[in-house]
Amino acid sequence: MKIEKTNAIITGATGGIGRRFAQHLVENGASVLLVARDTQALLELRENLVNQPGIETERVAIFSCDLLEEEQRNRLISYIENSPTPINTLINSAGDNQFSFLEDTPDKKIEQIIKLNTLTPILLSKALLPHLEKQGDAQIVNIGSTFGSIGYPGFSSYCASKYALRGFSEALGRELSQTNVKVKYLSPRATNTKLSTANIIAMNKELNVAMDSPDEVAEQLLRLLDSDMHELAIGWPERFFSKLNQVLPNLVSKAIIKQLPTIRRHAGLV
Ligand SMILES: NC(=O)c1ccc[n+]([C@@H]2O[C@H](COP(=O)([O-])OP(=O)(O)OC[C@H]3O[C@@H](n4cnc5c(N)ncnc54)[C@H](OP(=O)(O)O)[C@@H]3O)[C@@H](O)[C@H]2O)c1
Repeated sequence: MKIEKTNAIITGATGGIGRRFAQHLVENGASVLLVARDTQALLELRENLVNQPGIETERVAIFSCDLLEEEQRNRLISYIENSPTPINTLINSAGDNQFSFLEDTPDKKIEQIIKLNTLTPILLSKALLPHLEKQGDAQIVNIGSTFGSIGYPGFSSYCASKYALRGFSEALGRELSQTNVKVKYLSPRATNTKLSTANIIAMNKELNVAMDSPDEVAEQLLRLLDSDMHELAIGWPERFFSKLNQVLPNLVSKAIIKQLPTIRRHAGLV
């Protein structure tokens, strides 16, 4: 779909990656509906966007909503269904994470990660499908992760959530292949946002893991939106190791297990 024809809802719009999605989309002519919980952050983001030359106020809407709350999610869905400018793109970017070994991860956090990263995109996709099917062209873009293809110690719940999201995207994409709705999956590698806490950054530095800027991720999103690709994985060697993990998982395990003492130390374990 041409970017200027895109009218996208972006969940997690105030996040490090989400706000750059919003910026890149509006500066290329798209309209956006920005969603997050923090109303003040949404107001400031809209202000920043519409204060730029050439970006009309009506192209940036906001809606504050806790996506984990059914009643609030339903309000968002009916707002979209009744919006005078029909949404044709759903970008599921809201996400949560915690770098800790399973035994140190509170049950509540595990539940939040799975609900926000996996269940919410599934429920939003289902609820918005009838609306998307009424549009000329429509897309659902799920923001996954390299950790949706490689199981990495210290991120077991996050990996579970993103593996599931990748499976969902693949299955739904095939289910809808003969409709107007395309389903896409973007998997960023480590990116500099507040989701990458200081201990993750320190570990990545020690292990020579590259980290992208949110702008680099946003550029790839635009590439994906404007193409026939179903999936786009960002970064080399992450792309290579994701493929290798499918065919020779033991080889990848050996390499990762060598990193275990470093990972444990940064996760706060000795
Ligand atoms: N950063 C990375 O290294 C990295 C790497 C690969 C993939 N990703 C994926 O990229 C996506 C964006 O990540 P990010 O780094 O931009 O994260 P981030 O900076 O932590 O932003 C998270 C966003 O989600 C919103 N959010 C959190 N809980 C919510 C809830 N219950 N209801 C509604 N909104 C909620 C936050 O706003 P409020 O707090 O105001 O609600 C914020 O806008 C995620 O799916 C993440 O898994 C990130």
